[in-house]
Amino acid sequence: MATISTPHYLLDQARRRFTPTLNTIPGMGAVEKRLRERDWPQFELAQAPVGSGLKTVMGDSGLPLLGHMVETFRGGPEYLLQVYRKYGPIHYAYSPALPAVTALGPDATQAVFSNKNKDFSQKGWHPVIGPFFNRGLMMLDFDEHMYHRRIMQEAFTRTRLSGYVEHIDRVASLVIANDWVANDPRFLFHPAVKELTLDIASVVFMGHEPGSDHDLVTKVNAAFTTTTRAGGAIIRTSVPPFKWWRGLQARKVLEDYFSERLKERRNAEGTDMLTVLCHTADDDGNTFTDDDIVNHMIFLMMAAHDTSTSTLTTMANQLAANPEWQERCRDESDRLGDGPLDIEALEKLETLDLVINESLRMVTPLPFNVRQAVRDTELLGFFIPAGTNVNVWPGLNHRLPELWTDPEKFDPARFAEPRNEHKRHRYAFAPFGGGAHKCIGMVFGQLEIKTVMHRLLRKYRLELPHPGYQPRYDYAGMPVPMDGMPIVLRPLH
Ligand code: HEM
Repeated sequence: MATISTPHYLLDQARRRFTPTLNTIPGMGAVEKRLRERDWPQFELAQAPVGSGLKTVMGDSGLPLLGHMVETFRGGPEYLLQVYRKYGPIHYAYSPALPAVTALGPDATQAVFSNKNKDFSQKGWHPVIGPFFNRGLMMLDFDEHMYHRRIMQEAFTRTRLSGYVEHIDRVASLVIANDWVANDPRFLFHPAVKELTLDIASVVFMGHEPGSDHDLVTKVNAAFTTTTRAGGAIIRTSVPPFKWWRGLQARKVLEDYFSERLKERRNAEGTDMLTVLCHTADDDGNTFTDDDIVNHMIFLMMAAHDTSTSTLTTMANQLAANPEWQERCRDESDRLGDGPLDIEALEKLETLDLVINESLRMVTPLPFNVRQAVRDTELLGFFIPAGTNVNVWPGLNHRLPELWTDPEKFDPARFAEPRNEHKRHRYAFAPFGGGAHKCIGMVFGQLEIKTVMHRLLRKYRLELPHPGYQPRYDYAGMPVPMDGMPIVLRPLH
């Protein structure tokens, strides 16, 4: 089994603490507190047309250049709760990076996701991640989106999912048994599970057998990581050697890799996602072009990766902090035993479903979703001019005391009969989004998470690094535990 070296560990911790970000620069806590106490001068986004009966959206700019980045990147949903209480569901936040109307609460989420008059487009995502995930499914709109989604749906049928589970299980069992370090409080769950989900992706998405094509897989994985990180760049234009520029270079590596590899997979059989996308067709026989497959693969790998990693990390922390829930999950896993997994077996892990939901509620991997108004429209009676970005925040809905009993408490039973708290509003719980763009990989993600957790619980008891340990999150992008989330793995046998 691998070990953790002290110099490597110390270097990693130094990097985490001293790389300057809005969360690590000394004194930022005091700055955040002052910013949150301030009453910013309010202005009108755009006057509602006379006689329309609509209200005018009010907003503010926050700090020059930074807008409200300090409060959002440090406070996440807690800051948005403050905005919701102070200004209500619709408020405008100007910032040079992403000026947007903040649409808060379940009614606003419902209005935007259901998108009855097709007033809201996915173009809101373009300035955030557009150049790196060009023409991925989430970036497409309306009829064109539906056309692509119908073809892609064929890659997510139950039969296809069974094929992916087999691959996921093989990699997860191998890595957890051989690479993860027991009895060591320096073991960091977040980077370890991130590496595992990347290993899984090279088999499930690209079709490389575990351990094979090592140099190529390493190169592609590195390019993939660089592309994914580029959306969080502060300098948001292509200037070498900065993040945005590096992201575009890395995207080119991925394009070349997938273009080459798909030539081979077009005429091959296989149950990996790339081969499947080469052959899927909708009911009318429509198929993807080579360019479509390259664009979809790059987006799919990104969409699947950090989201599952984040959920597994939250689950490990909560199961370590709540041993009674850990035991309940393990009892179910023990009943399944160590045989090969399939979808039917995974469906029996019902307590794990509750824990997944509760973890997604407490730390929502994609806490907000971005849209753009394609024409003058209204949202909850407010006038929204064409071209306005609109950010909806399911991650805030997940914390509202009017929807959830004691929302700060880890309490998976809230998702079970008779409480069913998630049914108190149609959009009380929306970690996978909603409407036409609702996550197409939801079941895939749940199966991957259950497979990894089942294998882990069969082998180890999860413990906190010390009693009362509480992680701190960086909310710039997807929420990430700043210390890497130490978890102690105690072997069961
Ligand atoms: C816990 C895991 C996951 C979470 C929390 C999650 C969350 C989301 C959310 C919130 C959206 C909607 C974005 C929007 O409305 O703009 C979305 C869309 C999407 N997700 Fe996931 N996702 C997860 C796993 C996956 C996986 C495993 C895959 C692929 C295998 C995937 C592929 C996609 C795709 C392709 C879209 C775009 C769908 C469309 O636009 O029609 N996701 N996801």
